[in-house]
Amino acid sequence: MSSMGIPKLNPIMISGAEVLPLVEGGKGIAISDGLSSGLWAAEGGVGTFSAVNAHIPGQENLSALDSYSSKIRIKRHAEMIERAILGGISQAKIAYETACGRGRIHMNVMWEMGSVEAVLHGILSKVKNLIHGVTCGAGMPFRLAEICAKYNIKYYPIVSSARAFNILWRRAYSRLSEWLGGVVYEDPWLAGGHNGLSNNEDENTPEPPEPRVRSLRSLMRSFGISDLVPIFVAGGVWRLSEWTDWIANPDLGAIAFQFGTRPLLTVESPIPLTWKKALFTLKRGDIVLNRFSPTGFPSSAARNTFLRQLQARSDRQVLYAKMLDEQYTEPFHVEGPNARGQKVFLAADDGVKVRRWIAEGYSVALVTPSHTLVFVTPDESARIDDDRIQCVGCLSACNFSGWSQEPQHSPAPDPRYFCIQKSLQMISTVGDVENALMFCGHQGYRFAEDPFYAGGRIPSVRELFAQICSGE
Ligand SMILES: Cc1cc2nc3c(=O)[nH]c(=O)nc-3n(C[C@H](O)[C@H](O)[C@H](O)COP(=O)(O)O)c2cc1C
Ligand code: SF4
Repeated sequence: MSSMGIPKLNPIMISGAEVLPLVEGGKGIAISDGLSSGLWAAEGGVGTFSAVNAHIPGQENLSALDSYSSKIRIKRHAEMIERAILGGISQAKIAYETACGRGRIHMNVMWEMGSVEAVLHGILSKVKNLIHGVTCGAGMPFRLAEICAKYNIKYYPIVSSARAFNILWRRAYSRLSEWLGGVVYEDPWLAGGHNGLSNNEDENTPEPPEPRVRSLRSLMRSFGISDLVPIFVAGGVWRLSEWTDWIANPDLGAIAFQFGTRPLLTVESPIPLTWKKALFTLKRGDIVLNRFSPTGFPSSAARNTFLRQLQARSDRQVLYAKMLDEQYTEPFHVEGPNARGQKVFLAADDGVKVRRWIAEGYSVALVTPSHTLVFVTPDESARIDDDRIQCVGCLSACNFSGWSQEPQHSPAPDPRYFCIQKSLQMISTVGDVENALMFCGHQGYRFAEDPFYAGGRIPSVRELFAQICSGE
């Protein structure tokens, strides 16, 4: 045991080097960057920068959706790919230079981001000697192995269950097993950002991570994958003194610990100061799973004005019928922009609610793909229109704008969602913590309770890393 009471944290082999099994998880957009990941690696761990629309240094203004020159969405999408590639290359160079050869540098992308394969090829073809691995989740990254193998780089799928890894392995990875660097197990009930909760898992019934990681390890063993191939445990890891059973435990095989929320609060973390300060104000229960991301995945974020407004918008919702029948008796003229002048019928009870909302100023009815109307103010309606016009196709398919890389599979635009690109850019550049999505892990409330942060202390990456190594 070390002096602080945790078993000694031995280096393990990750992406071709012996490093401490401590990982800074990738965080988009522009939340884990070349500097934060490079500094983490310089301490002897694994730093992961996000290559999801990464910033081009000195040209951060180019991330704003209103900075795109073309008015045609497909051309804006092409511009986005170009900028994403340049941003990813820049951050990889910064990470490499900052790490000075220590630790390992990984790059993170989201499989369901727009034109992910083009972005991966564009970046990896230029930086394959500067980074050591690619982590990828939010979707089923079947082709990740093939792409990484082409550039001799290890790949790390992010999964939330053994079941997901089973499918990936059988369909794609078994043929390229030598490039599998490890598997990230991201706890779908605890991790910040998008979460991989499947349909048969209940968001209100969290399952403990250990049996799930054990079943992932036994599945990996059944495929002949060595115990030296690490599982990165992500989600809810705060201090290692709470994870002593996981350290050097031969039953679990090699384990690394991935941190997403704690590294938000360092001096060098690129998030704005307003966001850093907001982390100290979080209380237990303030971080919630929500279903508003236009990716269709659940996600974990702090409950703020932004989430409350989305919830209120969804609450101002009624079913409608196109024809008069026994239940839908009250005629209503939809004046909203996506169904102007259409006559529909509402249930009598709903008619009462609708008249109240209209009187309160929520006078625009927007049609959703679920045969419902949601009621918003004229300003909100105009913002929804503007955001859709500014869409750059940052996702492979977007429930908010209806954009899809494969137009034949375009989802119907749905006003209950929002433009996540705009929102994440807004929080990472302007730092508007009330009116944008503030991703956060469910243990974010611990900043306010942990004596390490007493008096609003913001540590350096070096101090945080040392604190984590100490077990606290
Ligand atoms: C603000 C924020 C943004 C995140 N963005 C991403 C992302 O873009 N891609 C990803 O794979 N994981 C993302 N994550 C998840 C982290 O990489 C990490 O796995 C997770 O936060 C670990 O759990 P923790 O929050 O309990 O530390 C994000 C997490 C946070 C807090
Ligand atoms: S509308 Fe959807 S696809 Fe378009 S930029 Fe926003 S989040 Fe991305």
